[in-house]
Amino acid sequence: MTEITRDVVIVGAGAAGTTAANELKKAGLSVAVLEARDRVGGRLWTDVVDGAMLEIGGQWVSPDQEALKETIEELGLETYRRYREGDSVYVNASGELTRFTGEIFPVPEATEKELVRLIEKLDAMVALIDPDKPWEHPDAEALDRISFEAWLEEQTQDQEARDNIALFIAGAMLTKPAYAFSALQALLMAASAGSFSNLVDADYILDERVVGGLQQVPLLLAERLGDDVFLGQPVHTVQWHADGVTVITDGDMTVHARFAILAHAPILYPWIDFAPPLPRLKQQMHQHISMGFVIKVHAVYDRPFWREDGLSGTAFSPYEIAHEAYDNTNHGDERGTLVGFVSDRNADDLFRVSAEERKERILLSLANYYGPQAKEPLVYFESDWGAEEWTRGAYAASFDLGGLARYGADLRTPVGPIHFACSDMAGAGYQHVDGAIRMGRLVAANIVAAAHS
Ligand code: FDA
Repeated sequence: MTEITRDVVIVGAGAAGTTAANELKKAGLSVAVLEARDRVGGRLWTDVVDGAMLEIGGQWVSPDQEALKETIEELGLETYRRYREGDSVYVNASGELTRFTGEIFPVPEATEKELVRLIEKLDAMVALIDPDKPWEHPDAEALDRISFEAWLEEQTQDQEARDNIALFIAGAMLTKPAYAFSALQALLMAASAGSFSNLVDADYILDERVVGGLQQVPLLLAERLGDDVFLGQPVHTVQWHADGVTVITDGDMTVHARFAILAHAPILYPWIDFAPPLPRLKQQMHQHISMGFVIKVHAVYDRPFWREDGLSGTAFSPYEIAHEAYDNTNHGDERGTLVGFVSDRNADDLFRVSAEERKERILLSLANYYGPQAKEPLVYFESDWGAEEWTRGAYAASFDLGGLARYGADLRTPVGPIHFACSDMAGAGYQHVDGAIRMGRLVAANIVAAAHS
């Protein structure tokens, strides 16, 4: 049994927790970071699988992600651009493949007009949303009562236009079906990335990667914390009162502190015993948040064969099991890597079949984009975050219908000495590493202010 006392105890050594801990230490406060897993990084995890370096979790950096970019620079990490030379491919509802360049998918002219009109409309609506306070939008209540799917049905009769617009938010971002979240939640997702147009532009949103992997961000931040990071310490109890907390882990650690930060996905709060319990509105709120669900699929080949055919590797289809896929070849690697994503209902369905059948169906989907060679990777791996006890889904958490307007404003509010920080409650950078870093910084600043008041 280890018993220690610190100014602040941080639960979770992901990007949010390691950022907060560093900021607090810089301000002269002592910290202990308790991490359930035997590694640092949470949803950032760079690993070698069958000889291939894979980004099992988050990996891309976009130009607007200033907090992440600053951190990458400050840590001395190098970045490189995603491969994007050549044609992208699109598969329509009839299974026909078309090559294209630019952002708008190669759809019939009338559908293209609808796509452009809807993107403009969404951009205008997003411009009115403060990503830190979407509930303050004048139509927040109304927009939060209608699913994104139903809202799109009100906007256009064109099914292919609807399917494509839905894809950018549903399959590609919140990783839930478009009927399972509200139009307000969709607008927040776009506002957090600067605009809806930014989400449509894969070259913007998936711009750069970090040489050696994005997990280095939390790893290097944790390195600076030295012995203040404790791995293999799942927190199961948080006892609290106005002036402090006692946090107890399954690894037999007890930490007394003036403040606590829960720096993990909000869906995991109910797995902790709070004594006394959290206020009833928080407990209600936490029942209206859930993780999305996506399988990130990695397929490594002896060479990036699609480039020989003039393809960039960028592929989209709302009608394919892998609704989007990209060239994910590592910096300086001769081998070629494709990464594909299988989201929400498709992911559910594929986890109902055997691993062999799942692999076969996913590779067939990749072959529909890149040709039969895609069926024969040297290395094949599925990132399965739904099975991870300390995450339970991917990429992140969002509210169900009506939850954002009803509870959103209270998501970050501290409870006595307990503060909350995670990418899943960010405004700018929501659901991304950038948001995790922003939340880590914000909560650290709030605690420093409270500690000195
Ligand atoms: P995170 O979940 O990373 O960290 C929380 C930590 O708390 C974990 O280490 C967990 O083990 C720990 N923990 C939980 N409960 C605990 C307990 N009771 N006791 C102790 N410890 C506990 N983002 C991006 O910017 N670009 C991208 O390309 C992608 N792509 C992507 C792909 C995939 C497959 C995933 C899963 C995610 C992404 N993301 C992403 C999202 C990004 O990875 C994510 O938003 C952040 O890494 C989240 O960081 P946090 O620190 O907020 O939580």
